[in-house]
Amino acid sequence: MQRFPLAALGLSAALLGAGACASSKPDPTALAIIEPKSGSSVSGKVVFTQLPSGETRIEATIQNATPGKHGFHLHEKGDCSAADATSAGGHFNAAGNPHAAPEDAKHHNGDFGNIEIGADGKGTMTMTSNMLTVLPGPNSVVGKAVIFHDKEDDLKTQPTGNAGARFGCGVVNETPTGNASQIKVR
Ligand code: CU
Ligand code: ZN
Repeated sequence: MQRFPLAALGLSAALLGAGACASSKPDPTALAIIEPKSGSSVSGKVVFTQLPSGETRIEATIQNATPGKHGFHLHEKGDCSAADATSAGGHFNAAGNPHAAPEDAKHHNGDFGNIEIGADGKGTMTMTSNMLTVLPGPNSVVGKAVIFHDKEDDLKTQPTGNAGARFGCGVVNETPTGNASQIKVR
C-alpha cells in the first residue's frame, strides 16, 4: 500500500498539464464513481491513467467507511445495479491467475489488495499495474466495476480473498481525452 501526499498528486497533475501544453497526447484516463451498496454509506472515486510506459496508475479515494483495511478489486462486469453489487461478478481475471496480492507474481488483473481507512472514515490508495489498460483491449478497465468490500482481503482465499460484503461499487467509464489534469483526486 502506497500513499502519496497531496503535494505529489498536485505535482503529477501539473506535469500532465505541462505535457499537454508541449503538444504531446494526454494520457488516457477512466473514472469510476463509487456508490454505496449493501446498506453502507461508502462513497468515493477511482481514477485510472494509462502512462506512457504502458502501465496503468490507479488512484482511489474513499469516504464514509469504517476504519481499517478493506478489500478492493476490479470486478469483471460493469454492473452495479444489484443492491448487494453481486451484479458486478467476480474479480476481473483475464490472465486466468489465482487470487493474490497485487505484489505477487501471479494475481487476478483486478486484485488491488486492501485500502486502509483512517479514523475519519477516509482512505486513499495509489498503485500501478502492468496487467490493466485504459485503452481498448483484453485488459481494459473500461466497462468493469470497482468494488470496495466490508472486510479485509486476506490475499489468499480463493477466489475472493474472503473480503465479505460489497459496500461500494462504481462502473469504470472512459473520460474525455485531455481531461486527465482536471480530475482531482481528493
Ligand atoms: Cu471484490
Ligand atoms: Zn482476486
